[in-house]
This record gives sequence, C-alpha cells and structure tokens, in this order.
Amino acid sequence: MSTVVLNGRELSQTLLEEQKEQVAELVRKKGRPPGLAVVLVGQDPASETYVRNKRAACKKVGIHAPDINLDPDVSREKLLGLIDDLNRDPAIDGILVQLPLPAGLDKDAVLFRIDPSKDVDGFHPVNVGKMVIGLDTLTPCTPTGILTLLDRNGVSISGKHAVVLGRSLIVGKPMALLLLSRDATVTVCHSRTARLQEETRRADIVVAAMGKPRMVNADYIKPGAVVIDVGISRGEDGKLVGDVDYPSVFPLASAITPVPGGVGPMTIATLLDNTIRAFCFREGLPLQPPRKHT
Ligand code: GUN
Repeated sequence: MSTVVLNGRELSQTLLEEQKEQVAELVRKKGRPPGLAVVLVGQDPASETYVRNKRAACKKVGIHAPDINLDPDVSREKLLGLIDDLNRDPAIDGILVQLPLPAGLDKDAVLFRIDPSKDVDGFHPVNVGKMVIGLDTLTPCTPTGILTLLDRNGVSISGKHAVVLGRSLIVGKPMALLLLSRDATVTVCHSRTARLQEETRRADIVVAAMGKPRMVNADYIKPGAVVIDVGISRGEDGKLVGDVDYPSVFPLASAITPVPGGVGPMTIATLLDNTIRAFCFREGLPLQPPRKHT
C-alpha cells in the first residue's frame, strides 16, 4: 500500500498565498490590514521560536503584527491592562498570548480577559461554548488546521472512527469536538486509558497529541489508518520528533503527517485565517466560508 504524506508545509504556503490576496482585497475595501497582537511573556526558547514564526507569517501576508514582548516578572495587573488596551485598539483584530506563561501568572485570568471577538486562539469560554453548541466561531488553530489538512488532501471524516490521544484545551478536547462536528465517531484517550493499543487499533484516524516522543508505533495502528502527529519534542540528537514513531508507522498508514512539516505550519496558517475572520466580523464583512460545527 502506498502512503500519502500529508505535507502541511506545502499546503500552508498555498494558504498563505491565498491569504495574501485576501488581505490585499480587505485593505482595498476597508483601508487597513487585519491586525494580530502576538504577546510573548518571558524568554522560553520554544515559545520564542513559535512567536517568531507566527509574526513572520503575518508579515508575509500583510497582516499588521506589532511585536509585544514582556519581561517574565511582569505583574498580573500590567498584563491584564495590556490586554484591555489591545481589546480597545481599533487596529487589532486578534490577540494571542503565547502559552505557557511564566509560573505565577494565572493563565485563565489572562485568557478570559481577551475580548471573545478577538480570541483568535479560540480558548475563551464564550468561543469554546459556541463551538460545543455548533455555532460558527473562532476555533483553536491546531485542530482546525488538522481538519483543513485532511479536507485539502481529500481524506473523508464522516462516519470514520477517530481516536484522539490527549485531552488538552489546546488540541485534544477541541479536536474531539471538531471531529464530532464532522460526523466522526470519536474516542478520546489519555494517560489513564486502559488497553490503549486496543483503542487505537480500532481507529481509522489517529490524532496523537499526548506529548510522548515516538510512543505511537506500529503496534498502535490498524493498516490503512490516517495518522496525524501533533507532538513536537527535541530528540537526543537535537532533531525534532513527534509522538509517532514515523519509520515503523509509515508503511502501515494510508496517510501520515511528518514532523516537522506536518501539523505545525497548519497551526500558523489557521491563526492567520482566524485573524482574517475576526477582521471580517469586526468590520461587518461576510465571513470567509463558514465553518460548520453541528
Ligand atoms: N502554545 C502552544 N500552542 C499554542 C497555541 O495554539 N496558542 C497559544 N496561545 N499558545 C500555545
């Protein structure tokens, strides 16, 4: 059986080209580009890289993206005050506070302060609630990007059995909800799941997002399954590795994402798409194709 590599890097470049045209059209219509504030608190090296990549992608498509970098010991009041300012700023349509925050800062207090209409991460309870009840809203970038990657590669979801490994706010929980909204039968597994391999071996689609390098090997996979790897860790040799043992799983899978170059670039392309959607919402323009979450 030949295996399709789900190339997120290539698709994200195509999406960024499309977004560049969309942004130019929006500037013609409204006289300003969409604006995204990516807020980095502290100097976590991985977060610095992610934030640099997000800002560079904005620059590429013409989204206004001011650098906002705060000291790791910034006070809660100052950070919340900054979010209030960004909520009021008419040039800013999206606000993303990079996680994790330094110890001592209350993540929920920060995320809940963001105006839901500018919540391009889709983490605010209003947006999570809208997603649960099936309204078109801003949805988390990584799982939304995975759906785009599947759709654009012609992988059907309806009626499939999807197994999601991990139950985080950022990936696992929203992934399960979004797959359900697309008529998959969904099982969510986590660190306490019994007989994990039995669960995953039933899956037509496996989404590995538990942060355990190379844990998902051939023993976890049904022949012909679609395998999505959200993991991103540094191996002993310094190279990036995912949660999937790529060499052993590749020959079994019908389609698989590489690490790097799979899910990661799709997360960034979706962040820009969410920013454009937030702009359209705030400017009273029709939304780009609606997302169905029934
Ligand atoms: N840290 C890792 N992934 C994410 C994400 O999608 N959004 C934010 N804000 N922080 C992250």
